[in-house]
Amino acid sequence: MQIAGSTALVTGAGRGLGRYFVEALLARGAAKVYATARRPVEIEGATPLILDVTDPASITAAAAAAPDVNLIINNAGLTSFTNLVTSDLDVVRREMETNFFGPLQMIRAFAPGLADGAVLNVLSTLSWVTFQGSAGYAASKAALWSMTNSVRLELLGQRTLVSGLVMASTDTDMMASFDIPKNDPVEVIRTALDGLERAEIEILADADSVTAKAALAQHPTAQYPALSAG
Ligand SMILES: NC(=O)c1ccc[n+]([C@@H]2O[C@H](COP(=O)([O-])OP(=O)(O)OC[C@H]3O[C@@H](n4cnc5c(N)ncnc54)[C@H](OP(=O)(O)O)[C@@H]3O)[C@@H](O)[C@H]2O)c1
Repeated sequence: MQIAGSTALVTGAGRGLGRYFVEALLARGAAKVYATARRPVEIEGATPLILDVTDPASITAAAAAAPDVNLIINNAGLTSFTNLVTSDLDVVRREMETNFFGPLQMIRAFAPGLADGAVLNVLSTLSWVTFQGSAGYAASKAALWSMTNSVRLELLGQRTLVSGLVMASTDTDMMASFDIPKNDPVEVIRTALDGLERAEIEILADADSVTAKAALAQHPTAQYPALSAG
């Protein structure tokens, strides 16, 4: 996927990785970048567009307003730091709406314009491993991973590159309350866009992502030692 000259659209562009994506796409020569968010966003050189990925009418309106898009970055995401068994199910549903149905509806709405273009779905190491307290998010990102694999096959006939970006903890608002090592967002975005330009269908942004992928081949007790305790 050649970014120079492309017309890109980024969801969740108001802050965090979305904003970095918009700036990096422009720096790499994208002809036009729609910076979409729930509220108007001002980024020099970008075209602002209102878009809530949980609102189908909003997605339809954005697709009508931006028919020239040939690269979508499905970046918008939500974590509510919740478990599955005793939590409020509406909170779990909201994570699924934002992280799974939102990106899927984006792809469905924009698919005709994506022939010979690309989609980048922003996954997570939590697509491949779960943690207590992030179970709803992990389920939604696992669903997004599966959807990425399915849609890649479904859009093969129109030569759409469907890629997934996997990363561990990265320094944005989402992880602000955790005092742990974090990726530099600028590095993550560079890796992501380099991968897109090389037409990689799966882009692993850090060592933790490589470890998480490899662990899928192991018995679950290797990933979750608590299962074999006692
Ligand atoms: N940071 C990490 O450690 C990490 C690790 C792995 C994967 N990721 C993924 O990376 C992506 C970007 O996350 P981030 O770290 O930049 O998080 P962030 O700082 O919390 O930003 C989340 C972005 O998503 C937007 N958003 C949430 N719900 C939305 C909706 N319904 N419609 C449109 N936009 C919506 C937010 O917009 P508002 O400003 O309107 O709330 C915000 O721009 C997410 O998909 C996240 O799951 C992040």
